[in-house]
Amino acid sequence: MYRYLCLILCSLITLSASSELPVCIVGAGASGLSAAHSLEALGRSTVIFEEKDAVGGNAQNYYENGLPYYLGPLLVNNGSHPETMKIANAVNVTTSTYTPVSSWLFNWTTGETWVSPPDEPSPEFLREYQRYTAHWERIFARFARGAYTENMPDELTVSTSEWFAGQNYPQLQARFTRNIISWGYGDVDELPIPSPNQFYTLSIFNPPSLARPQLTIDFHEVFERYARQLVDSTIHLGSKIESIGLELTPSERTVFSAVQTTNYFSSAIRLNNTPRLSLFRIATESPTSSPPIAGEPVYIEGRFNTSDLSCLYSVGRPDQSPEEVAAVTLQSLSRINRDPSSQEADDWEPAAPVDPSDVKAFRQHRYYFPHFDQTALQGGWFDKFNNLQGGNRTYYTSGLNRVEHVEFVIVSAREVVEAHFSS
Ligand SMILES: Cc1cc2nc3c(=O)[nH]c(=O)nc-3n(C[C@H](O)[C@H](O)[C@H](O)COP(=O)(O)OP(=O)(O)OC[C@H]3O[C@@H](n4cnc5c(N)ncnc54)[C@H](O)[C@@H]3O)c2cc1C
Ligand SMILES: *[C@@H]1O[C@H](CO)[C@@H](O)[C@H](O)[C@H]1NC(C)=O
Ligand SMILES: *[C@@H]1O[C@H](CO)[C@@H](O)[C@H](O)[C@H]1NC(C)=O
Ligand SMILES: *[C@@H]1O[C@H](CO)[C@@H](O)[C@H](O)[C@H]1NC(C)=O
Ligand SMILES: *[C@@H]1O[C@H](CO)[C@@H](O)[C@H](O)[C@H]1NC(C)=O
Ligand SMILES: *[C@@H]1O[C@H](CO)[C@@H](O)[C@H](O)[C@H]1NC(C)=O
Repeated sequence: MYRYLCLILCSLITLSASSELPVCIVGAGASGLSAAHSLEALGRSTVIFEEKDAVGGNAQNYYENGLPYYLGPLLVNNGSHPETMKIANAVNVTTSTYTPVSSWLFNWTTGETWVSPPDEPSPEFLREYQRYTAHWERIFARFARGAYTENMPDELTVSTSEWFAGQNYPQLQARFTRNIISWGYGDVDELPIPSPNQFYTLSIFNPPSLARPQLTIDFHEVFERYARQLVDSTIHLGSKIESIGLELTPSERTVFSAVQTTNYFSSAIRLNNTPRLSLFRIATESPTSSPPIAGEPVYIEGRFNTSDLSCLYSVGRPDQSPEEVAAVTLQSLSRINRDPSSQEADDWEPAAPVDPSDVKAFRQHRYYFPHFDQTALQGGWFDKFNNLQGGNRTYYTSGLNRVEHVEFVIVSAREVVEAHFSS
């Protein structure tokens, strides 16, 4: 079971004894492809085994009439993906902008909707952001700018809500919480603060970034072209690695069993009654709390003015199957699917049902956003993980090395290759 967990979570690299032999890589996602590229730059040949019949890993989309509906990564805020954008530029894939015409909050049980507060940063937000920046440089910068090789002090192992409550950054806390919910990172009462703090390096809360339209890119196209044009590796698609002839050692078992993941879902679903280009986010009991995790949609984005299809993201409990989550999501959508601008509180326009025929794509991300609880972090989780690197000539690189995010996994893959393969 742990073997399964670790293979799914990690793009796993094994080094052949002789430097004449190719390095085997499991997984042709962002991690595997960038590890291959870095190894090739050091003169090693590589071979990649990929279970699915396409490269890109999470970076997959549903396409209709030439338009991409994102089932995986999509966002590249200005400044957030410097290394990723070098690859995108090298293979000539450009960004698009997205500005919703209206933004709403919804009650996922009743379908009630109301106008979302404006996105523009308030003066209070800007003051907090300045204070946080100085604070962040003092306490977190030394962890954030390289691989996690040093264990964190106890004050940096507490949950996101506990840390923020102790620091008095209410505006920033609300903003972080909102993104953690939309992006499926788990409950803010459980998620340890290092992951949110790591996001500071991506400039997403820089006041200029907050004011700009969202920038998106077709990551699938980026990785397809990267694999074809810039990675020499032979890529065996449809090749699942079941066993690599290694048994997990007790220490590997301990390290990997502490990994927690979230059960996140992405989909493309037709919502024929909501206005085009509208954005809906789940409402919570307070701006700094997470919703219950029950299979409901948390974020809905009508992306194109020529289509009724929305990109949609749902969260499930660890034990919830895709069928259950789809059922809960459709039930909730069937209450939301109307024009919210035409409503009177006591005179709702009836919502139109959304049924399985409206679902064009529905994808489960069962092992998304690997992270650890406070006990594991205080027990030196990253030390233990780093100590596993190279055991039986096996190396791990993925969202597990830092944070689940394209830019971080690209940087982590390079760091692993540089640390262990350059002589
Ligand atoms: C819905 C969603 C939205 C996201 N949005 C963003 C975003 O906006 N911006 C951003 O930067 N990041 C985003 N992310 C995160 C980003 O997609 C991931 O961090 C990144 O894609 C991880 O790359 P990876 O190569 O480590 O793993 P993966 O992409 O999961 O690739 C691993 C590959 O290994 C293969 N594999 C696994 N086990 C085996 C085996 N035994 N044998 C053979 N092959 C195997 C899998 O099939 C897969 O192709 C998002 C993720 C999701 C799911
Ligand atoms: C990104 O930010 C830089 C510096 O703040 C700015 O010069 C540039 O115009 C921005 N680009 C976009 C696409 O917003
Ligand atoms: C890059 O794309 C643009 C527009 O899609 C195209 O005009 C240009 O020729 C392409 N350049 C290369 C080097 O492929
Ligand atoms: C949603 O509506 C129900 C029923 O009115 C209410 O109990 C709940 O608090 C509401 N949730 C939010 C987040 O507003
Ligand atoms: C639809 O969007 C495209 C691209 O963003 C834009 O050029 C066009 O003017 C829009 N059309 C309408 C009717 O809004
Ligand atoms: C390497 O594999 C062998 C055989 O499965 C195992 O006994 C040993 O503990 C492993 N060593 C490491 C460091 O993982």
